[in-house]
Amino acid sequence: MQFDEFAAFEKNGWEHVVPSYEDYFGRLTVQSHPALLDALAVGPGTRMLDVAAGPGYLAAAAIERGATAAAVDFSASMIAHARQLHPEIEFQIADAAHLPFDDESVDAVGISFGMLHFPEPERALGEAARVLRAGGRVAFTAWALPERAVGFGMVLDAIQLHGKPDVGMPPAPPFFRFSDPGECVRVLTEAGFVDARAVEVEQTWHLVLPETPLDGLMHGGVRMAALLRAQSRSALAAIEQEVKTRVKAYTAHGELLIPMPCVLASAIKP
Ligand SMILES: C[S@@+](CC[C@H](N)C(=O)[O-])C[C@H]1O[C@@H](n2cnc3c(N)ncnc32)[C@H](O)[C@@H]1O
Repeated sequence: MQFDEFAAFEKNGWEHVVPSYEDYFGRLTVQSHPALLDALAVGPGTRMLDVAAGPGYLAAAAIERGATAAAVDFSASMIAHARQLHPEIEFQIADAAHLPFDDESVDAVGISFGMLHFPEPERALGEAARVLRAGGRVAFTAWALPERAVGFGMVLDAIQLHGKPDVGMPPAPPFFRFSDPGECVRVLTEAGFVDARAVEVEQTWHLVLPETPLDGLMHGGVRMAALLRAQSRSALAAIEQEVKTRVKAYTAHGELLIPMPCVLASAIKP
């Protein structure tokens, strides 16, 4: 595999961020789940698979619609936490590139903020196509470009200004590859799906000062967290100051309302 080192780095990282992922991202990624479930046509009786499920938010939302849901994630600690939160859902530890499900066994496959973490996202889509019945739907979300997903933008700009963007991280697919709706449609079409489409969905990161997006990215994720931790102490202090200045434009009554839209891509198995 071309990105072996990155795959191991992600796997190890996601084993260690469960509580902070939930604290920082739990109220954010769920904001696009109604649109994601609509794109998957999830309703009563749908058999949905949530891939890279994390704490199982998407699977839980599907069950609220009357669907049945199974969920996989390659992080054993994420799955242990998800099972505690949702004992009614069938969770399995599995990689998106090797789904432990039979051919044509589900109606819908949802991947909420997983594709940008996969070393080989095309393989995950190949697996989605295999387990979907004909006429079934796949949909995934990924962050919009940092100019629009402002929480990323302000932190990355601050690193550019005061730190080192290149800190020798393992080679990896571009973090913002699927921020491009055209690329989403292309990759879905190449995987054999039809009627591929991609739209932007609004999300807002609610944070309470003194916390800023820097804290969320430093503690609640893997790749951005490693980039931030690799900065020198003085650079990190300057980055923090820069972000504190920038969040002022998004502050109301001590609360931050940071735009964090995503791209939602979907398609149908012919
Ligand atoms: C950003 S979180 C998304 C969690 C959840 N779906 C959500 O929307 O909040 C990414 C999740 O993908 C999982 N993940 C990353 N690479 C994976 C892979 N190759 N196979 C399965 N899960 C993976 C991580 O363990 C983590 O739980």
